[in-house]
Amino acid sequence: MNEKVVRLAVFCSGAGSNALAIFNHLAKQSKVQVVLMLVNKQECGAIGIAQQFNIPSKFLKNSEFLEENLVISILEEYKVEGIILAGFLRKIPGFLIDKFVDKILNIHPSLLPKFGGKGMYGHFVHQAVIQEKEKESGITIHLVNENYDEGSILFQAKCKVEQTDTVESLAKKIHKLEHEHFPKVIETYFLNLQE
Ligand code: GRF
Repeated sequence: MNEKVVRLAVFCSGAGSNALAIFNHLAKQSKVQVVLMLVNKQECGAIGIAQQFNIPSKFLKNSEFLEENLVISILEEYKVEGIILAGFLRKIPGFLIDKFVDKILNIHPSLLPKFGGKGMYGHFVHQAVIQEKEKESGITIHLVNENYDEGSILFQAKCKVEQTDTVESLAKKIHKLEHEHFPKVIETYFLNLQE
């Protein structure tokens, strides 16, 4: 039997509610594990969540995220094999995309290709969806390539957008979908890669 553990890093910039869902889910098994969190916001909530799970976290300034030697040496120190972007609001540098081919997953709070691209994150996405009077929205989990939100789509889930929905109520529905699906997709994707 193959007992190898897939070692992942999670990159965050925000509250970390997706990180929490991922940690809770992966704690139920041993084959796919998060071994490191990297953040680019010193005060972000995600750090506290990593602490709760005894997962080491490191803060890097945006300029440091562009330093190939620094970032690669940290990831090598923790023997990281895959990267999860869970609310990480920076473009991923080319050297990471080249080193982790098909091993970087992102979650986006809309049904890509709709409402993606630079500047489309968080409430800006939900605002645009409501403004365009969309009947449905949802989440997209995709591989990361050199263009924002354009890598191969692995999974989508939908929810209805009601006429009465606000940015806040839609954000709530989307977060619920994210927390339900992202952890499972991560586990399945990396387990399958290993086979
Ligand atoms: C999520 O809505 C995700 O789709 C987007 O950033 C948000 C992160 O939220 N990429 P959280 O920090 O996981 O709570």
